[in-house]
Amino acid sequence: MTRELRFDGRVAIITGAGGGLGRAYALLLASRGASIVVNDLGGTMHGEGAGHSAADRVVDEILATDGEAVANYDSVENGERIVQAALDHFGRVDILINNAGILRDTSFHKMTDEDWEKIYRVHLYGGYKMAHAVWPYMRDQGYGRIVNTSSAAGLYGNFGQVNYSSAKLGLLGMANALAVEGQKRNVLVNTIAPLAGSRLTETILPPEMIAALKPEYVAPLVAYLCHDSNTTTGEVFEVGAGWFSRLRWQRSRGAFLPIDQPPTPEEIAEQWSVIQDFSDPTYPETPTDSFAPVMENLMRAANAAPPAEANDDRKQPSPAGEGPLSAIGYQFKPATVTYTEKDLSLYALAVGAAVDPLDASELQFVYEMSRDGFKALPTYAVTFPFSLLWEIVSVPGLRFNPALLLHGEQYLEMKRPLPVNATVTNTAFISNIYDKGSGALVLLDVHTADEKGEAIAFNQVSLFIRGMGGFGGERGPSSSADALPDRAPDVVARQQTNENQALLYRLASGDFNPLHADPAFSSIGGFDRPILHGLCTFGFAGRAVLRHFAGNDPARFKSIRTRFTKHVFPGETLVTEMWAVKGDNGGSDRILFQTKAAERDEVVLANGVVELWDESQ
Ligand code: NAI
Repeated sequence: MTRELRFDGRVAIITGAGGGLGRAYALLLASRGASIVVNDLGGTMHGEGAGHSAADRVVDEILATDGEAVANYDSVENGERIVQAALDHFGRVDILINNAGILRDTSFHKMTDEDWEKIYRVHLYGGYKMAHAVWPYMRDQGYGRIVNTSSAAGLYGNFGQVNYSSAKLGLLGMANALAVEGQKRNVLVNTIAPLAGSRLTETILPPEMIAALKPEYVAPLVAYLCHDSNTTTGEVFEVGAGWFSRLRWQRSRGAFLPIDQPPTPEEIAEQWSVIQDFSDPTYPETPTDSFAPVMENLMRAANAAPPAEANDDRKQPSPAGEGPLSAIGYQFKPATVTYTEKDLSLYALAVGAAVDPLDASELQFVYEMSRDGFKALPTYAVTFPFSLLWEIVSVPGLRFNPALLLHGEQYLEMKRPLPVNATVTNTAFISNIYDKGSGALVLLDVHTADEKGEAIAFNQVSLFIRGMGGFGGERGPSSSADALPDRAPDVVARQQTNENQALLYRLASGDFNPLHADPAFSSIGGFDRPILHGLCTFGFAGRAVLRHFAGNDPARFKSIRTRFTKHVFPGETLVTEMWAVKGDNGGSDRILFQTKAAERDEVVLANGVVELWDESQ
């Protein structure tokens, strides 16, 4: 049994509390220890006149049961005066219930400006004035609970209520945005769409229904939202007659049209049933979620993944049901990539090779007439699977918001040194999916072979999809990383990245995610400027190991694995600490490493290990 939810020491302002729903909230909160400002203008249900008796009666009821309350008769349009009354009488304000309301129903063609204006001023402007007046106090004290009152008329539209519906949906928008602004300060803001018998509904609903729809059946939800123990914010609830429910947005998967040129109205007509198809919905909750499919389409365009085909793929039935587990074993269509010395050189430059003009040791990675003969940096092979990553958002059973995708780990194994130009084919499948509780860990295995079908490289990409956990899958092995030796690193490499490093790396790798280029996009991701690609940092670290432990000889590079732990901003200094340890089979050397962003002293690559073939082999 839940302990009694008390409000001792809390001060609540309830607007329009002289009757109906507001009165029920006031009586319930007062009975549980809150001090109440019972605000009510006391006019008619159409917003005419004013009076004290409504608020006074409710205050008397509270005082009669030893509760604490004070009346206030201001209109909510004067929010600051009502808040001042709370401060004068009780010295603080913790809870605001924006409840005051009137109706001026009339069909739109008969609606006057006054009908519009009066409704707007009591509901939306009044709600704003109240919230604006309590906001500084709630922010400063790091505590606040606000409940706005919307209506089914606002959520769905109703005949004769264009004014009221508009204002009521406005209150929801206000609460949604306030919830975002207030969250860090523990000011939680929610909205209800109630149904209750009151003077507002007595003309619309039959008397027997009015009796069944007591405001007391709405009040408990409002009280819970106002309680210390509530952590929910930015949500909307429908409530009435003992029924309590959360409402959310649902969005169709939608149609993805090419963006090389603007689509035509005819194409929209053709896609109309797809645009409206709710068989595969998502439930966006934030502007980032709203944006996700746009990003997805941009990435498709950037990687030239044909949208029509991707749509077809989604429709394939999946044998093991619809959950993430059904995606295990999913085979991607083999993808062919051609590269030349120029691509390899660009990649090498993008991971910081050959920055010192007097040091010729890395010229072989960027200069086709190099004395030692042109060679490929082995880590170029991590770019092979890239085009597949964006197809993963379309795999049946794995539908997710790309904004929630994190590149967790990368493993690359070289089957032999990379040819300096080749047409290679990537064959990829989802080898496993683990349920990590907070998300799903998806392992993508990619085998790359040359024109003759001979293996060149193997990548395993670990992708973490936040919020997709809890589907009943295995947790998977815990990290088996080697502990770093208990001694100072054998070698420490400092590598300076450039301010435009990410702009260079995107061209070299084909990863055109705007997160790495456009400040408007990176701010959506929560970064104040574009961040470096994790695989770019990976390339810097791989290069450091190759240089210091393998004499820049790509033929000795057997494998590399690391975990991405933090972002890097272009321009930061990468410090890679390296330790040589003997390999298990004696046939290779193991170099353990970790990389830090020096300016922030943050580890950005952890659990790093490179295996090198012995010089003798
Ligand atoms: P009610 O008419 O019993 O209560 C509204 C109170 O607000 C009245 O006492 C009125 O004097 C007061 N008020 C009006 N203008 C004011 C102003 N400018 N300043 C201060 N107080 C003012 O109606 P009820 O049903 O209790 O409504 C409460 C809220 O719930 C309203 O916002 C209403 O729009 C909303 N609502 C009610 C529904 C229902 O089924 N009763 C359905 C959907 C929304």
